[in-house]
Amino acid sequence: MLPTPTEEADCVRRFPGGTRYDEALECKMPTILDGAAIAAAIKQEVAEEVRALAGQGIRPGLAAVLVGNVAASQMYVRSKVQTCAELGISSDLITPPETVTTEEMFDLVAALNARDDIDGILIQLPLPKQVDTKALLDAVSPSKDVDGFHPVNAGRLQAGRPALAPCTPAGIIEILKRSGIPIAGQHAVVVGRSDIVGKPVAMLLLHQNATVTICHSKTRNLGEVTRQADILVAAIGRAGFITPEMVTPGATLIDVGINRITDPTEFARFFAGDAKREATFAKRGSTIVGDIDPKAYELAGAYTPVPGGVGPLTIAMLMANTVRAAKMRRGL
Ligand SMILES: NC(=O)c1ccc[n+]([C@@H]2O[C@H](COP(=O)([O-])OP(=O)(O)OC[C@H]3O[C@@H](n4cnc5c(N)ncnc54)[C@H](OP(=O)(O)O)[C@@H]3O)[C@@H](O)[C@H]2O)c1
Repeated sequence: MLPTPTEEADCVRRFPGGTRYDEALECKMPTILDGAAIAAAIKQEVAEEVRALAGQGIRPGLAAVLVGNVAASQMYVRSKVQTCAELGISSDLITPPETVTTEEMFDLVAALNARDDIDGILIQLPLPKQVDTKALLDAVSPSKDVDGFHPVNAGRLQAGRPALAPCTPAGIIEILKRSGIPIAGQHAVVVGRSDIVGKPVAMLLLHQNATVTICHSKTRNLGEVTRQADILVAAIGRAGFITPEMVTPGATLIDVGINRITDPTEFARFFAGDAKREATFAKRGSTIVGDIDPKAYELAGAYTPVPGGVGPLTIAMLMANTVRAAKMRRGL
């Protein structure tokens, strides 16, 4: 179907020179995948499940372990604890001092593993240098590993067995499914291979029958690979790293990155002309940008904005995992 004159004019604005227009499968404004709305729907479902469990005398419980005084960690944990309260999940905030030792943390985790009122154990990262983070995460009982970081859960996920999956990757699948974006048979390209995002999201996409390519810092001709993506997941940790040239028009862009920028030149590179952002930047002296250059969003069929895309799903899925852990532990 030919585009209307308005769509065509819009295309010329989005794809100057018209070259991109010829490549575009459809010339429509991209759909913004509203992570906040999807997270709200998931939290409502979780609250309903919590109410149903209350009828059986079960109240799911989350232990949140926050070490030291890292401001960002405090903010994340505060909002996790607050969300527990909103959904009827009990929470226990434990705050060991910055000087805590690995042995003391092992003792704490062992005590939480043994507590029947605790279904999920969340250890907010990063931990101070003196604590052996990997060994500690391995000490969390896999049945209470609501972050999905334990090797047993990673193995179960890979083997396609019931597992507590990492929250951000599980949230990405929810965004795609609930937005009606087909996954089966699509080429999903994941940039980033971390244990907490890249690898598990690739595995979850594979289980949904996508054809998956994983890219990393040693990938040659990255743009050639990313341009093949029907679904492009960027989990890199570098502001605006995926440029418009690396994206095929119409692709679904999932931007996992959370990068704070303070340099006015860098800000202008991404957001010049965006009055709302300019006002925020002028007021706060910083803003958040994803791993995908916002100019690339314009080419997308659909994309997750930053903020407000993938981010809100992480807490929602943590809540969902806590309820799931409560049920699994009781054989429900
Ligand atoms: N929205 C959320 O709730 C949420 C949750 C978690 C993380 N995040 C954000 O997501 C981003 C990624 O997090 P992460 O924990 O996965 O980061 P990470 O552990 O630092 O991993 C980054 C990955 O990006 C790859 N990479 C780095 N430079 C590259 C390049 N030039 N070309 C191709 N690949 C490159 C790395 O490759 P190598 O393996 O070869 O080094 C690595 O696999 C960060 O911005 C983080 O803040 C957001």
